Amino acid sequence: MGYSREELIAAVSAGMPAKRWKHVEGVMESAVILAKRYGADPVKADLAALLHDLAKFWPIEEQEAIIRDNGLNAELLRHDKQLLHAEVGAFISQRDYGVEDEEVLDAIRYHTSGREGMTLLDKIVCLADYIEPGREFPGVENIRKLAETSLEDALVAGFDSTISFLLEKGKPIFPLTVLARNDLIVNKIKN
Ligand SMILES: [Fe+2]
Ligand SMILES: [Fe+2]
Repeated sequence: MGYSREELIAAVSAGMPAKRWKHVEGVMESAVILAKRYGADPVKADLAALLHDLAKFWPIEEQEAIIRDNGLNAELLRHDKQLLHAEVGAFISQRDYGVEDEEVLDAIRYHTSGREGMTLLDKIVCLADYIEPGREFPGVENIRKLAETSLEDALVAGFDSTISFLLEKGKPIFPLTVLARNDLIVNKIKN
């Protein structure tokens, strides 16, 4: 990889407001704790967390153009604009920062939506994004509590809060999130 952790921190933090960088630091902290708790690679968790929101404050038109021009997941263009930065972040991490680790790239790519068959690292980064110390939303304490004993239960609770919020607002629900939630629940029943 061409960039040191310090260089990545400098590049990513320069591309977002200080408040959002604080969030990223919180996600890094939580992701490393979760990785150690649930047996994932803390270095990968730290890297994916560091890069996960790198495109969050890029102009939407620019994010859309990157998706369109590079043959990325065009279905995203029909959904909430907040979903774009995850796909764009994974693409930029590879193209501009030389990240080749598919596990890390996938954890960035699916951190907002989740997906069916989430890897351990996907789950960790997605959950860390919900529970990092700076997050405040109804139910976050319950998710933090669940995260101490079950990665999957905590993540289901996280998706539930997202889906409930969207239902309340009358907004569309991204299908991958529903698939991710169902998959976690079905697998839990099986085990
Ligand atoms: Fe994000
Ligand atoms: Fe985030």
